[in-house]
Amino acid sequence: MQIEWTDGEESFADRAAKHVAARFADKPTQTVALPTGMTPVGLYRRLLALEAAGAIRLGAAHYFNLDEYVGVPQADSHSFAAFLHRHFLDQAAIAPGQVRLLQGDAPDIAAEAQAHDAAVAAQGGLDLAILGLGANGHIAFNEPGASWDATTHVVPLTEETRAANAAYFADAFTVPSEGVTMGIGMLRAARHILLMVSGASKAQALEAFLAGRPDPSWPVTALCGHPSVTLVADSALRRG
Ligand code: PGA
Repeated sequence: MQIEWTDGEESFADRAAKHVAARFADKPTQTVALPTGMTPVGLYRRLLALEAAGAIRLGAAHYFNLDEYVGVPQADSHSFAAFLHRHFLDQAAIAPGQVRLLQGDAPDIAAEAQAHDAAVAAQGGLDLAILGLGANGHIAFNEPGASWDATTHVVPLTEETRAANAAYFADAFTVPSEGVTMGIGMLRAARHILLMVSGASKAQALEAFLAGRPDPSWPVTALCGHPSVTLVADSALRRG
C-alpha cells in the first residue's frame, strides 16, 4: 500500500488528483467508480483543472457511481447522480454514453443493481475505485457487517450514516432509509483503489484500516491486503 499524508485541503486534493492522473496516463480508457460526499469535491475540481490544462484526458474513460439513495430520482438535486453531475461530469469533456449512474427510483431496483454490474463487467471490470470513508468504516454504502463478496445491491442505511448525510443539505430533505451500492466484492475486484480520508470523525475507522486486520465490523478493512491501494489521508489523522 502506498500512503500519502497530506497537509490541508489543497494538498489533499492535489495528491489524489496526481494519483488519478497517473492512472489515466497509464490507461486513458479507465473504468472508474466515483464517490459522492465532501471528501472528493477538491479532487473533482483538480481533475477539471488538469483537463483544462491538457494534462489529463477524461473523455476516453467510463464512469460509474458507487452508490445512490433508493427512491430518489437522478433529476432530484439530492441524488448522488445530481451531485456528480454538478461537481464533475457536467464540466468535463465526457460524452453521456461514457457514464452510467444508478437509477435510485428504478421500479425494479434489484434489476437496476444487476444492470449496473453488467455494465461494469462489459467494460472489463473496474480499473479504479475512488473511495471515501465513513466514520463507521463504511466504503460506498457498505455498512458494518456487510458481506465482503457482494456485487451491487440494496442496503439499509444506518442512522449514523443518515444523520451524517442529512448534514449536507440545508433543506428538509429526508435521507432515505435504503441505498443501492456497489458491494465490497466488486470494490475489492477493482484493479486499483484510491482511498481518500479526511475529517476528524474518520480517525477510528482509519486506525482500524491501518492496523491491517480484516474485521467485518469495519468494512474498510476488506481492502487490507488488496494488491494496489493508495491511501491519501489528512495528516491530522496520523497517529504515532
Ligand atoms: P464524506 O463522506 O466524504 O462526506 O466525509 C464519506 C462517506 O461517508 O463515505
